[in-house]
Amino acid sequence: MVDHSFFTRVIAWQQVSGRKGLPWQATHDPYRIWLSEIMLQQTQVSTVIDYYQRFLASFPDVKSLADASTEAVLAHWSGLGYYARARNLHKAARMVMEEFAGQFPGAPEALVRLPGIGRSTANAIAAFAFGVPAPILDGNVKRVLMRHLGIEAPPTGAALEQRLWAVVHDRVPADATHAQMIAYTQGMMDLGNMVCARSKPACQLCPVASDCEALHRGLQNVIPLPKPKKTVPERETVMAVWQHDGQLALQKRPDTGIWGGLWSFPEYPAVDDVPGGKGQLLPAFMHVFTHFKLHITPLLMQGPNIPQDLSLQWFPLADALALGLPQPIRRIIETIAASQQEYRLQSRT
Ligand code: ADE
Repeated sequence: MVDHSFFTRVIAWQQVSGRKGLPWQATHDPYRIWLSEIMLQQTQVSTVIDYYQRFLASFPDVKSLADASTEAVLAHWSGLGYYARARNLHKAARMVMEEFAGQFPGAPEALVRLPGIGRSTANAIAAFAFGVPAPILDGNVKRVLMRHLGIEAPPTGAALEQRLWAVVHDRVPADATHAQMIAYTQGMMDLGNMVCARSKPACQLCPVASDCEALHRGLQNVIPLPKPKKTVPERETVMAVWQHDGQLALQKRPDTGIWGGLWSFPEYPAVDDVPGGKGQLLPAFMHVFTHFKLHITPLLMQGPNIPQDLSLQWFPLADALALGLPQPIRRIIETIAASQQEYRLQSRT
């Protein structure tokens, strides 16, 4: 017999101390709940509220969203960031119209097949809108549980994930009512956000402190352990900088991919690969992307002879600095500009 006192304590606490009156709490409409969960995935409540109201004023239901243009949807998202969320939202609205005749499915297994909806979000929507006894397991809930269970580990890995999914399922009774599922789901979110915060958890306010392993062992500030540092791959590139008559040769990058649509220098794997590559090596430096580090060696070459197959265009230095430039390219041009300035100053004395 599973003890459901965790479930009932969280609900009782939410009803007294949890967040209330948020715009998406006033409805059972799955469309409105879905929209709020997507907006709240990477964005704080205080930021979301205005966007949420404006979005619903323009797209009050799934049909109006499905019928809208992608530009209109993105315009309503502008400033919220993580724009893949908006594109997925739009795609999902069209799928709900086409595959579910405009009615949101209530089963988590169906919701999770819509773009942008992961397992935890699917369960949140199913619980809030339809009262399905499906638990959430987002980053906050993970932390709450790891502390409650006293799991001294980083919050990572498939084995932990699997174990915690089993735990959260056990903590929800199969016969929970819709009202209980709303309070419990919101309660777990509120607990993670307001009490069992990442730093300085307010254990004296916690409804499940009495059997919290981390608190008993004084580890509430230690669990979860830090994630192991990711070793990001490193790449090397030589950037060929042709200079002639006070001008630099730049190339516009394709619209898609890294630095899409920005101006850059042609890149080569090594100095020896640069055509006519007798030049001056400028100081190498590193640029850090999310997924890799790029070691950049700029090679400065003087003269008008540039490869004809690269669609390079000449720009005076000042004009080049006014183009859309990736940060490392700007840095190279500024280095060149600064050294010329120095040269001019020196030759005057
Ligand atoms: N974050 C994700 N879903 C939320 C909700 N329903 N209320 C508050 N914060 C949330």
